[in-house]
Amino acid sequence: MKIKKGTIIELNVESLSYGGDGFARYNDIAVFVQKGLPGQTLEAVITKKNKKFLKAKILNILKKSPDQINPKCTHFQDCGGCSFQNYNYSKQLQEKGNQVKDLLKHITGLSSSKIKKIKKANQTYNYRNKMEFTFSNDPWFEKYNPKEKKDLCLGLHPKGRFDKTIDLENCEIQSEISNQILNIARHSAIKNNLTPYDIKKHTGFLRQIVIRSAIHKNETMVIIVTSENNQKKLEPLINDLKKVTEIKAIINNVNRKKADVSYSEEQYLLYGDDFITEKIGPYKFRISPDSFFQTNSKQAKILYDLIKKEANLTGNEIIYDLYCGTGTIGIYLSKKAKKIFGFEIIPSAIDDAIINASNNNVKNALFFQGDIKDSLIDNKEIDIIEKPDISIIDPPRSGLHPKALKNIIKLKQKKIIYISCNPSTQARDLIDFIDAGYKVINIIPVDMFPHTPHIESIVTLER
Ligand SMILES: C[S@@+](CC[C@H](N)C(=O)[O-])C[C@H]1O[C@@H](n2cnc3c(N)ncnc32)[C@H](O)[C@@H]1O
Repeated sequence: MKIKKGTIIELNVESLSYGGDGFARYNDIAVFVQKGLPGQTLEAVITKKNKKFLKAKILNILKKSPDQINPKCTHFQDCGGCSFQNYNYSKQLQEKGNQVKDLLKHITGLSSSKIKKIKKANQTYNYRNKMEFTFSNDPWFEKYNPKEKKDLCLGLHPKGRFDKTIDLENCEIQSEISNQILNIARHSAIKNNLTPYDIKKHTGFLRQIVIRSAIHKNETMVIIVTSENNQKKLEPLINDLKKVTEIKAIINNVNRKKADVSYSEEQYLLYGDDFITEKIGPYKFRISPDSFFQTNSKQAKILYDLIKKEANLTGNEIIYDLYCGTGTIGIYLSKKAKKIFGFEIIPSAIDDAIINASNNNVKNALFFQGDIKDSLIDNKEIDIIEKPDISIIDPPRSGLHPKALKNIIKLKQKKIIYISCNPSTQARDLIDFIDAGYKVINIIPVDMFPHTPHIESIVTLER
């Protein structure tokens, strides 16, 4: 049979692919099935044909996966947030561990004996401390009825449909209080006739709401993104939100651009403080609106404890904490290190890191703001500080810029601990470290994000 878009075929799903789709084969061609689970036999329709692979959508489940369970979330079928809520957690872990093994073996040729068992999350629901929801006038109806209209909805996008928004009342992976805030914000916006931003016509006022919480003392920060600076218009919504005692900070970001991002240089503090405070282990961390913070606070402790173990400090080490955010990892290791030098691009994160060191009585840490690719070598300020014995590297999903990678190698540190939320860019970067004489000692996958396809992994290298 000639396969094309729209062809209906029968498939047996073998595993979960990196990214979350089910992996199957049709006449030796790889097929990625949206929401397919290992063990399922499916009737599926081809949605995309490529020279090397096919993409497909489930039409009928002919045989259920033995590990399939009922998802908690009522929006599960449509929402692009979680992929595996309907798959047994121990199987999710097994599949994620295998993905790290396959990726690293395929890209770097490393033997799987280096890869440790994936660290599970003890809490698999209500764990996310940061979520971003979109205001929209273009709702996605789970059983689509174009006649049904909503002037304002608030929620997440369906998978692959950034033009549509699911009017979400409950997200199972964020905290209870964040769900309450989500619903208060929606009802208040409707009651007060605030208009959602229309991403096609570029009209309307409310764009996104970001809810960040710190579990330590139940502190929550709400960032409302609007298309103009009009605090009078926002007042009734702010008054409703202020009634929630857990809310310690309300911030307004103004995004006048067409691009649908919540980050903005135009930022106003509307209520409370401009930060919240989280605790990991014995350390307290101040988090500003634009600063990165690990999105699963409980699992961050597990991650940082593993990094500490891998660092195996004696007290004499100079440590570079590269991509340090609010200084968390460096501060976490500071007691057993001689000196910590942190590097980070976002100025407010560096401000947080300096305050965090001081608040935790850490006297052996210094922080530098700048782009890592330009700031490590041939920089008057940095050339005079000691070179590292150990570099901890925790870049964004895109991995290391080639210039940053070259400069890190020039630092000649004995040990590198490379943490990544994207094992494929991490594997790409490992090739250069291996070529420069580093040996991979350990690889530890960590599940920071249950029910989603994301995987964190720690790789320890020595020279
Ligand atoms: C994955 S986060 C890690 C933060 C920190 N290690 C932690 O555990 O909280 C990556 C950090 O890298 C920063 N960053 C991104 N690109 C950068 C660059 N080119 N130079 C320096 N820092 C960068 C981001 O602002 C973010 O704080």
